[in-house]
Amino acid sequence: MNIQAPSIDLFHEMRVELALVEQRVLEASAIDLPVVSTMVSDIVSNTGKRLRPVILLLSARAFEPNLEAAITASAGIELLHTASLVHDDSIDRADVRRGQPTLNTQLSSSAVILIGDYLFAKSAMLAAATNSTRVVSIFAATLGELCDGQLREMMHARQLDQDRADYDKRIWGKTASLFAGSAEMGAVIGNAPESLITELRSFGGDLGMAFQIIDDVLDLREGTQTLGKPSANDLRQGIVTLPTMYFAESLPVGSPNRDALLGIVEGDITDEDTIQDIVLQIRASGVIDRAEADARLFADSARSRLRMVEDSETRRLLEATLDLTLERIS
Ligand code: IPE
Ligand code: IPE
Ligand code: MG
Ligand code: MG
Repeated sequence: MNIQAPSIDLFHEMRVELALVEQRVLEASAIDLPVVSTMVSDIVSNTGKRLRPVILLLSARAFEPNLEAAITASAGIELLHTASLVHDDSIDRADVRRGQPTLNTQLSSSAVILIGDYLFAKSAMLAAATNSTRVVSIFAATLGELCDGQLREMMHARQLDQDRADYDKRIWGKTASLFAGSAEMGAVIGNAPESLITELRSFGGDLGMAFQIIDDVLDLREGTQTLGKPSANDLRQGIVTLPTMYFAESLPVGSPNRDALLGIVEGDITDEDTIQDIVLQIRASGVIDRAEADARLFADSARSRLRMVEDSETRRLLEATLDLTLERIS
């Protein structure tokens, strides 16, 4: 994991809670089946940035400390995220995740989907273990939104002409909803007043929008080694993300670059040289900066929601999650 200066402090501050969350995730996802049990424990032990549990834990800490419920819900959210990655890598035909080979490289797609389902079920049990029907309800709504976003992405794939409103809707569903749900669950567990639960949910949603725009930028800006997942894979799968949308808008109809981009997105051009050439053109075109500026707008909106959090130390740590979102390189 590549993290930069402001976030080191954040993860150091959260280390005790995060260790407890990881332990809960590991216990909850255990499966009594040879081979599969090792595959599952390898996936959950190879942790990612753990940004969603951090947001949940801090959103609870900002109000009343209720550590047991916050740890349980955070484990549920991280396992829900992990399950969604298992399904996502199957959908995106990705062969590497967090620098390790994905299940796709070892199992049939039906087995991969079933393992993902198993992890979804276990994550739901963690949500239920909080004994809060409201947490379970947020959990279920979030899972629905996540599927909605992934389905929207699938339905809009392989079409170069895209609508910004559709893009926002699908990244809200597939990514921002989980950040919104994490912050909301934390505030609910911390017994925050209703107005602040709403505000923290919006904070999480705005952060999540920034997070996915940056993820879409990184797919085009960084290499596979840095990302720990296949770079330029959105393009290869015909997913038109914000930087690609801006790039397409800048190209005259009938120009060689537009024809090449169209061919890649529609799946008629698959040779790596043409793909890499288009990636270099995208990097040189200025659209990466434009998309990053859009991500910063969402982050600014998220930051403004934090004004209502009175506990200044927790607010500072929540602000650090925004810095990490904008500055991360993987
Ligand atoms: C990856 O999320 C999926 C997206 C929403 C882009 P993360 O980048 O948070 O993945 P890990 O958990 O750190 O690997
Ligand atoms: C994934 O979006 C969102 C979910 C996992 C629901 P991406 O497809 O962009 O995520 P990465 O880039 O594979 O991590
Ligand atoms: Mg993917
Ligand atoms: Mg991505």
